[in-house]
Amino acid sequence: MEKTDHTFHYPHPFELESGATLPGFQLRYTVLGRLNEDRSNVIWICHALTGNSDFTDWWRQLVQPGGPFDPEHYLIICANVLGGCYGSTGPLSLNPKTGEPYFHDFPELTNRDVVRAFSLLRQELRFKKIHTLLGGSLGGQHVLSWAILEPDLFERISPIACNAFHSPWGIAFNEAQRMAIAADSSWPERDARAGYQGLQAARAIGILSYRNYEAFGKTQAEKTHPVTRDFRAASYQRYQGEKLSKRFNAITYWRLTRMMDSHQVGFGYESVEAGLQQIKAQTLVIGVASDLLFPVTEQEFLVRNIEHAALQIIHSLYGHDGFLIEFDQLQGIIKKFLNTSVVGAVA
Ligand code: COA
Repeated sequence: MEKTDHTFHYPHPFELESGATLPGFQLRYTVLGRLNEDRSNVIWICHALTGNSDFTDWWRQLVQPGGPFDPEHYLIICANVLGGCYGSTGPLSLNPKTGEPYFHDFPELTNRDVVRAFSLLRQELRFKKIHTLLGGSLGGQHVLSWAILEPDLFERISPIACNAFHSPWGIAFNEAQRMAIAADSSWPERDARAGYQGLQAARAIGILSYRNYEAFGKTQAEKTHPVTRDFRAASYQRYQGEKLSKRFNAITYWRLTRMMDSHQVGFGYESVEAGLQQIKAQTLVIGVASDLLFPVTEQEFLVRNIEHAALQIIHSLYGHDGFLIEFDQLQGIIKKFLNTSVVGAVA
């Protein structure tokens, strides 16, 4: 079965939480599988910070025949976030008012803005129920934000390696990355390549938070000793920076990291706990034991405060990146979740 890519156009003004209004927007989305007769088999995936809508690129193992979301049985969908650079409206899109790209003028977004945009796409597709909503990292923040906004929509959710509000530690990492971008003298230019070198440094900083001491020790140790220059770890950092800068841009990166920083499910409620208590879906929270960026204590907090929630922990050398690497564990955990009617029994 082949995946297909589509674009949803929303032609009306869309007010953002910041008070700014987009004159309209579009969302790029990828679909795999078929809707069943009673439209009850929709799996909605939310992608991470620099991800795209093509989940077959980065989560193929979960959506292949025999995986937890077999396209023979499910319709699987993922949309590029509003503010993104993979076909959805974002900083590089044309501002219809000026006829030029928005660039740095693109307004601030929140995770709630993103999931309200997703919901307009969902309504267009006439999905009245979502079987399972899942995503990791920024995608996990979207899962929580959407399940709070529309609690009756989801039967099951799985927020992975994420949190109820972004931590001071996470915000500090993101600010350090934005400082690297701002230190690039090209950053103020109204150009898609503004902050290009800075983005490379930002990615290298980000990678430190996605991995840890042990992961670098295992994957980037020198093969011959003694080595006093041309370190593998150094070349890895440069490679990761260059690779991202070829497929992303600094203005979008800036906006999306700010969006992550502003994540706070307690917004509009009495407390963070009260926000989480809105969630009605059967919930499987997944954490990675070695995650430095979203430590397991954050997922334990989610489980304590979401009514029907259980926790599963992935064991990985790779820290936060574990949710993009440990497919055997993820597949097993998610399959079990889908076959369990009462959450609590999966733990
Ligand atoms: N010097 C130069 N390049 C090196 C290297 C070195 N010493 N060691 C590895 N590489 C290259 C690899 O060849 C590979 O290249 P490719 O991507 O072009 O194939 C790349 O670095 C990644 O290798 P590695 O990190 O070992 O792969 P992995 O399978 O362990 O991890 C990813 C895969 C996708 C998780 C990881 O590469 C990545 O991109 N992490 C960031 C993901 C992310 O954005 N997380 C944030 C979520 S908010």
